[in-house]
Amino acid sequence: MTSETLRVPAVALGTWAWGDSGDAGEGYFGSRLTASGLREVVEKAQAGGFTVWDTAVVYGTGRSESVLARALKGYDRSEYQLSTKFTPQVAGDGDDPVADMLEQSLDRMGTEYVDLYWIHNPADVARWTPLLIPLLESGKIRHVGVSNHNMEEIALADQILGEAGFRVEAVQNHYSLLYRSSERAGVLDHCREHDVRFFSYMVLEQGALTGTYGPAHPLPEGSSRAAAYNGILPRLQTLTERMGAIGEDRGASAADVATAWAIAKGTTPIIGVTKVGYIDGLTRACGIELADEEIAELEALADATDVDTRGFWEREM
Ligand SMILES: NC(=O)c1ccc[n+]([C@@H]2O[C@H](COP(=O)([O-])OP(=O)(O)OC[C@H]3O[C@@H](n4cnc5c(N)ncnc54)[C@H](OP(=O)(O)O)[C@@H]3O)[C@@H](O)[C@H]2O)c1
Repeated sequence: MTSETLRVPAVALGTWAWGDSGDAGEGYFGSRLTASGLREVVEKAQAGGFTVWDTAVVYGTGRSESVLARALKGYDRSEYQLSTKFTPQVAGDGDDPVADMLEQSLDRMGTEYVDLYWIHNPADVARWTPLLIPLLESGKIRHVGVSNHNMEEIALADQILGEAGFRVEAVQNHYSLLYRSSERAGVLDHCREHDVRFFSYMVLEQGALTGTYGPAHPLPEGSSRAAAYNGILPRLQTLTERMGAIGEDRGASAADVATAWAIAKGTTPIIGVTKVGYIDGLTRACGIELADEEIAELEALADATDVDTRGFWEREM
């Protein structure tokens, strides 16, 4: 009964960092972001056909959703797609916490509906999934996906939705050269076989896999991502240098190669875009065809780093 098939461009845009206050060294990302800079990001992305914007209630406790809505102002609602999430850990105690959280997101984003709504993590699949059904029926959410769910949890969510004529249309998990837990667990194969779109997040490992940052130029001091990644940057150098070399042959960067790799694996990367210049990289990445040998080489170099970049909120699949 889902109204129409979920259709999205080859790359989606992530706005977790947009929830930071923008002061350098502050917040999760510690990047300096301004409203005018983010408007430029939106204009360039929209013009380039990158029109799916991923956010969540918990990115800066609503700030990311509000900042995104302001940056999209002036575009017709049909020109972009909004992807946001129900996060069980911040559920209220009303009769229907999913409807309540969605209502607050709609309010912050100044819209009547969300194109793609996610259950952010599998805190209690049997409890939260059924509450999506009336929202699908009313059209307030157009498509649903589950994030950070393993195979068993995806199957349970799909069964619950299936009883009402809907289905899990998308999965959103951490998936990068350095973190391929979903692939090992068969989630990628499952999605391919069942026509479920797999959105990969943290493809760039929050900047650590772009070649921009290294031991001599670490991630912003005081930020959460610096705490997570600065200690392992020396072990990533051989990999990022090879990514850079593969990119150079095609007029592209190491970051573009990471994105191209995620596309080559049949996934839709959600790339955290903070600077207007990064949008050209997405266009380049969409045009890169990595050879099987290059993919195998990059994955072998990634395995040789022997790092574990699992987020504090994640479990092995
Ligand atoms: N469902 C979940 O549980 C979950 C969890 C995590 C993320 N997500 C989603 O996935 C999105 C992506 O993850 P993320 O933002 O955490 O990390 P990411 O995409 O791995 O990395 C984003 C960072 O990489 C740098 N960057 C981006 N494009 C670049 C380019 N072309 N060249 C060089 N550097 C580039 C930027 O750092 P600088 O600003 O320092 O330049 C940016 O902040 C999030 O925004 C969010 O929407 C979902």
